[in-house]
Amino acid sequence: MGQIASNICGGDGRPVIKNDVTLTIKNVPTEPIAGQAPGTSGLRKKTKVFMEGNYLANYVQSVFNTLIEENVPVQGGTLVVSGDGRYWNPEAIQIIIKIAFANGVGRIWCGTDGLLSTPATSAVIRARGYGFEPFGGFICSASHNPGGINDDFGIKYNCENGGPAPEKLTSKMLEWTGKIKEYKSVEGLPNLDLSKPAIYKLGDKIVEVFDCVEDHLKLLKQCFDFNSIKRLMARPDFTIVYDSMSGVQGPYARRIIEQELGAKPGSCTNADPKPDFGGPSSAWHGHADPNLTYAVELVATMGLNKEGQKISSSKPIPSFGAAADGDADRNMILSSQFFISPSDSLAMIVDNADLIPQFRAGLKGCARSMPTSGAVDLVAKAKGIECFEVPTGWKFFGNLMDSGTQYFPDKPQYTPFICGEESFGTGADHVREKDGIWAVLAWLQILAKKTEQAGKLVSVEDVANQHWKTYGRNYYARYDYEGVDKAKAEDMMKMMSGKSGQLVGKSYGNMKIKINDVFEYNDPVDGSVSKNQGVRFIFEDGSRIIFRLSGTGVAGATVRLYLEKYTPPTGNLGMHQFDVVKPLADVALQLSNLKSYTGRDKPTVIT
Ligand code: G6P
Ligand code: ZN
Repeated sequence: MGQIASNICGGDGRPVIKNDVTLTIKNVPTEPIAGQAPGTSGLRKKTKVFMEGNYLANYVQSVFNTLIEENVPVQGGTLVVSGDGRYWNPEAIQIIIKIAFANGVGRIWCGTDGLLSTPATSAVIRARGYGFEPFGGFICSASHNPGGINDDFGIKYNCENGGPAPEKLTSKMLEWTGKIKEYKSVEGLPNLDLSKPAIYKLGDKIVEVFDCVEDHLKLLKQCFDFNSIKRLMARPDFTIVYDSMSGVQGPYARRIIEQELGAKPGSCTNADPKPDFGGPSSAWHGHADPNLTYAVELVATMGLNKEGQKISSSKPIPSFGAAADGDADRNMILSSQFFISPSDSLAMIVDNADLIPQFRAGLKGCARSMPTSGAVDLVAKAKGIECFEVPTGWKFFGNLMDSGTQYFPDKPQYTPFICGEESFGTGADHVREKDGIWAVLAWLQILAKKTEQAGKLVSVEDVANQHWKTYGRNYYARYDYEGVDKAKAEDMMKMMSGKSGQLVGKSYGNMKIKINDVFEYNDPVDGSVSKNQGVRFIFEDGSRIIFRLSGTGVAGATVRLYLEKYTPPTGNLGMHQFDVVKPLADVALQLSNLKSYTGRDKPTVIT
């Protein structure tokens, strides 16, 4: 870099690197680019699309135009900028920093190597503080989508509460992308070395690089009793494998699971973040999506095949297994030859919340997305706490978590709060994102306490069996039809939505439809209405068939079919979930005419 005037210590051990650069603001003419609508979770496109011309700059400037219009304190403010380490992350970060400074941002916060997981970004925005509270942050990630020059890139803006921008902001950002005429950037910024913690003073601007794990770890230590988890880890009969799938979780997993909690070195696998997640996406490596289909290595290590059936293994099977996605907000939990569905995992964490120090004061609320099974509803009812059903997308939980706070002071407070989704997301109100390692620690905490109480090792499977005996079992599975023709998928959804309500009372075998509608959500906190959130067929026995189009893909469409069948505690609780929901899938195919619309006779993924 340019001339370094001094290199002194930043108080917390970080060197302060002064550089008397003069940054000149330039206004670069540009034109609107079509198709910059953010989906379920930010803007995602093929990497090459992002790399072309002003694609990224236009979007980032549209975000700033929106923030400035909304009186967000951008001038002199602090902004977090980092990502999940996927291909083009370092270049994108440098572009964003320049646009941010040109728009008046005073201080940029960056994790080492430009890495911050999605939940860690939320933790940094909310808790790093010390007088420079950020007004928001950019996360460069396409989450579980494959990375690499031929795969996907993405960007997401999170607000000062640490959560994804709500729809009222993202729709303004989209409006700006349609009318943008110029973007601002600065000239004269040297290339910054983000590989080590440092404080760069660049004229009147500052870039701070800090250890990407420290803030998140600090927060997690407040949520859990690390000592009791350490005792579990130290048991000779307990072994763990945590697969970071070459995403951003690696540094967090190694530091927290191995160094802090004492798991054997090597317990954290695929723990070096890679730009293509070990790709290409055609191989299982490269698709950092923790489910039975894509987490091939972990699933086999745990003695299962991708249908979740037991297979024989020549090696000893670990007692606990987990995996994370590219940006580390998702989690999959397993025990030896046992897979727990995310819907069940949520219900069981809520049921055992009193074993987690974070909820010592008592849990006040919980929530699930609409397609997530109703298992958590049964727990909430038994415990007498509020349970909300929101559309798919983590942002919908944020308002509930912010109720009764400075953001919505006149609303009743639903926190402490736990929420989750069938799409392998689980979390709580310590941050405003789902949090993969939080879910892993929540389970480890529950197992640690139960093991202490029982005087012998308690597994995830033991907890699940006990749970089902108490509440019954919501057998559940999701069929994904990936890469189908978008227009045809939309026609199919339109056909079903058009018939909404008409099928009530109709029987399929011994099942009768009780509710047939298109899910719509009225946010009880800010009064906003979200329409068209999935087609539902709910039967008299509580079974559900739900259709939705994915909001996170980048090409074509993915049809998601969610299947759920409830069995009471007196019923057969030990069946395989895929077998139990199969008859429902047959009904769903009749209701949707999926085969003739999409030409598919089987799903790409079942999980
Ligand atoms: C992201 C969001 C989740 C959401 C999921 C659904 O991971 O953060 O909140 O559940 O996408 O994705 P889909 O592809 O079904 O729209
Ligand atoms: Zn993710």
